[in-house]
Amino acid sequence: MKKFYIETFGCQMNAHDSEKVIGTLIDKGYGQVESPEEADLVLYNTCSIRDKAEQKVFNRLQEFKRKNKGKTFGVLGCVAQQEGERIFEKAPHVSLVCGSASYNHLPQLLVQLETGNRRVTGLSLDTEDTFETPMTRRDNPHRAYITIIEGCDKACAYCVVPYTRGPERSRTSESVLRETRELAELGYSEIQLLGQNVNSYRDPSPAALTFAQLLDAVGRVDGIRRVRFTTSHPRDFGKDIIDAMDANPNLCNQVHLPVQSGSNNVLAAMQRLYTREDYMRRIEWMKNSHRNIAISTDIIVGFPGESERDFEQTLALLDEVEYDSIFSFKYSQRPNTPALKLDDHIPDGEKGRRLTILQEKQRTIQLRRNADYIGHVEEVMVEGFNKATGQWIGRTTQHKTLNFTTPQPTEESLTGRYLSVRVLRAGPNSLVGEAV
Ligand code: 5AD
Ligand code: SF4
Repeated sequence: MKKFYIETFGCQMNAHDSEKVIGTLIDKGYGQVESPEEADLVLYNTCSIRDKAEQKVFNRLQEFKRKNKGKTFGVLGCVAQQEGERIFEKAPHVSLVCGSASYNHLPQLLVQLETGNRRVTGLSLDTEDTFETPMTRRDNPHRAYITIIEGCDKACAYCVVPYTRGPERSRTSESVLRETRELAELGYSEIQLLGQNVNSYRDPSPAALTFAQLLDAVGRVDGIRRVRFTTSHPRDFGKDIIDAMDANPNLCNQVHLPVQSGSNNVLAAMQRLYTREDYMRRIEWMKNSHRNIAISTDIIVGFPGESERDFEQTLALLDEVEYDSIFSFKYSQRPNTPALKLDDHIPDGEKGRRLTILQEKQRTIQLRRNADYIGHVEEVMVEGFNKATGQWIGRTTQHKTLNFTTPQPTEESLTGRYLSVRVLRAGPNSLVGEAV
């Protein structure tokens, strides 16, 4: 039997793509192994969202080569799409380059390799299809990712995704619901709906469900207790999503709504298609809901032209929204993106200074928000046991980590179960409690 090894970087979409690639390969008779040394085929599923991603990929490919002579190497994902055949020039030991929009063709590409082709590529972006596989090898036995839409039709000035994942393609609601029912029967209780921009979901089937209706329908499948979704674009985020959350307790109290900046000047330069006021209206919907929704966001500091005043508006936005968590980044130039043409690039040291100030502010906010949970009883899904601390690891509906102990030690595994836990202490990044 041919053996493959796969290494994955990047977002949840990428992680889930790898699950589908693994399923496809197993379906074709390959076996998965845990190290490149044991494999015949070494696959590297790459991300190019930030920093010097390409250089890191080439460095890793060199490392693979030094230790693994005579194997077949393949590069998948966003760097594959972005660099295309240039990868063969810079890393001549690679023989397969395939971007995510072409994974449907992976089985044929593998056959071409097996029948003696030295180099094969799947780089077309103009596919109409989504990547549906008869078999997906999921990493987690309780929580499953389901793709509902692939690609992105926005043109945010800093972002490579439209160039690496192609145009938007939605999957039919029938097929999403069929997969949800199959997963529920297999014992999965939590579903995470995935897309680069789930809010622009357009159901191609006659049912013509909106995203909010699809979310609700997934949450009503027997056996499903928790539904999350990521990622949202503020411009397309409708109030009907919050209404669905208010009406359906299985939809988790969690929304990730990337803002990127608190300044209207910067938002305009980023081509984000909304203002700070538009964004805050959506935050108000969430704050006015019956649910205690945890809100998280992504922020870029040091975008070209970001003045000290612009940055202060982002800091003020953190105070206004009081996010439960943020992911924050220094702006980095990416190939092909519109922002390359902008002047006023900000020195790296200054970006670093802004990032530190932002993260310190957020840490205080998180500590305060998490402290509000002390004394409350929260339902967690148990994700595992931490031997080092002797605590179980739980996840609340808000997606907060709640580490806990049980009143009596237990021999059986609690993983995958839903338990009530009283919160006793709170840190900026997690809660600690005891099962009740
Ligand atoms: N520089 C810095 N951060 C970026 N992101 C996307 N592109 C860039 C870039 N060129 C961030 C955004 C996005 C998150 C996934 O990564 O905040 O929401
Ligand atoms: Fe990275 Fe973006 Fe590609 Fe995801 S879509 S793997 S974040 S570049």
